[in-house]
Amino acid sequence: MSADAQSFETKVIHAGIEPDPLSGAVMTPIYQTSTYAQSSPGEHKGYEYSRTDNPTRTVLQTQLAELEQGTHALVFSSGLAATDAVLNLFQSGDHIIAGDDLYGGTYRLFEKVATYRGLEFDFIDLNNEGLLREKIKSNTKLIWFETPTNPMLNIFDIAKIASIAKEHGLLSVVDNTFMSPFFQNPLTLGADIVMHSMTKYINGHSDVVMGCLILKDREIKAPRTTWRDPNFAAPRTLYSRLKFLQNAVGATPGPFDCWLVLRGIKTLAVRMERHAQNALRVAHFLQDHPTVERVIYPGLPSHPGHDLASRQMRGFGGMMTFFTKGGLDQARTFLENLKLFTLAESLGGVESLIEHPAIMTHASIPAELRREIGIHDNLIRVSAGIENADDLIADLDQALAKI
Ligand SMILES: Cc1ncc(COP(=O)(O)O)c(C=O)c1O
Repeated sequence: MSADAQSFETKVIHAGIEPDPLSGAVMTPIYQTSTYAQSSPGEHKGYEYSRTDNPTRTVLQTQLAELEQGTHALVFSSGLAATDAVLNLFQSGDHIIAGDDLYGGTYRLFEKVATYRGLEFDFIDLNNEGLLREKIKSNTKLIWFETPTNPMLNIFDIAKIASIAKEHGLLSVVDNTFMSPFFQNPLTLGADIVMHSMTKYINGHSDVVMGCLILKDREIKAPRTTWRDPNFAAPRTLYSRLKFLQNAVGATPGPFDCWLVLRGIKTLAVRMERHAQNALRVAHFLQDHPTVERVIYPGLPSHPGHDLASRQMRGFGGMMTFFTKGGLDQARTFLENLKLFTLAESLGGVESLIEHPAIMTHASIPAELRREIGIHDNLIRVSAGIENADDLIADLDQALAKI
């Protein structure tokens, strides 16, 4: 059976995974080495130095490309390092349009670091097609967005945004962290690059920080990059440029972390199914609770993006947010009294996590902008784990009773 015909559940076990040619080891070995012997200068077995390439990393990259239905994948030492590699394709004076609701660290990288390097940004509601078209200028190069967004779970229309990007010769990048490749594949909807914080669902065990970019390779027009040396021949495809940057900038993960992610991926399909089942149960419970003002979960018909989400995603994932009645004091009391949910940043692990975006993950967004987006002091973000849903609901119930 060709890899393309295989279902996702089979791909997470087999795609890109071959027994080790040297020993027959069924599990990919951890090639814990920084360098590789050469028989003569420049003559080697395909590996020279582990920043450039490492066999454990190669297997992970091959598998990721198959899971997202791309041709190539590149892994980085964090989701933000992967994001930064994309930014490094551009030069001072280039303009980027980004969704108006982003993970706080992505916003900080764009607003506090990339603008310092001369990139320009507009953060807009990408569901407003007129506004998007209005913001595209002669120096616009990229549209970057999450869907569903972190933390407000807004849904953006990937196919529409990607086609507008193509119309204007722009790249489109989707941060697919919340859905994982199990529930959504933006490349099949026309996006150029998919980015994941693999720290979250793909690894799934809250023990690794890593990111990746996955793409369908294609020729891109020169120069549109930071290459200043007229004698420097910029790589001509999107993949080779990003691969060049992965090595040249050097934010690459070690082989042990790559192996941990390979191990985590094996259960991605079963984990995602359970995350989504638990999230739906929790969302219904919260929706009916007298101390809860509003629940935002794309799987609820009350979510304004529910129909679009049903079309472009194969499930609704494990993330939701909700507003407690009252303000910061009530939210704090609730969070302090949880016993099973861990109050912590991050998401997508097997254990249920909960957090306060205004004080924790999105604190780097200015207060005024946070309020505009809807990140108020009574907003709570939930990452439903894979525990028993009744136990999760009982924990939420007893903590809500303390408000
Ligand atoms: C949606 C999203 N994108 C990107 C990132 C950044 O990834 P990392 O923390 O792996 O650098 C995060 C981290 O929380 C995230 O939630």
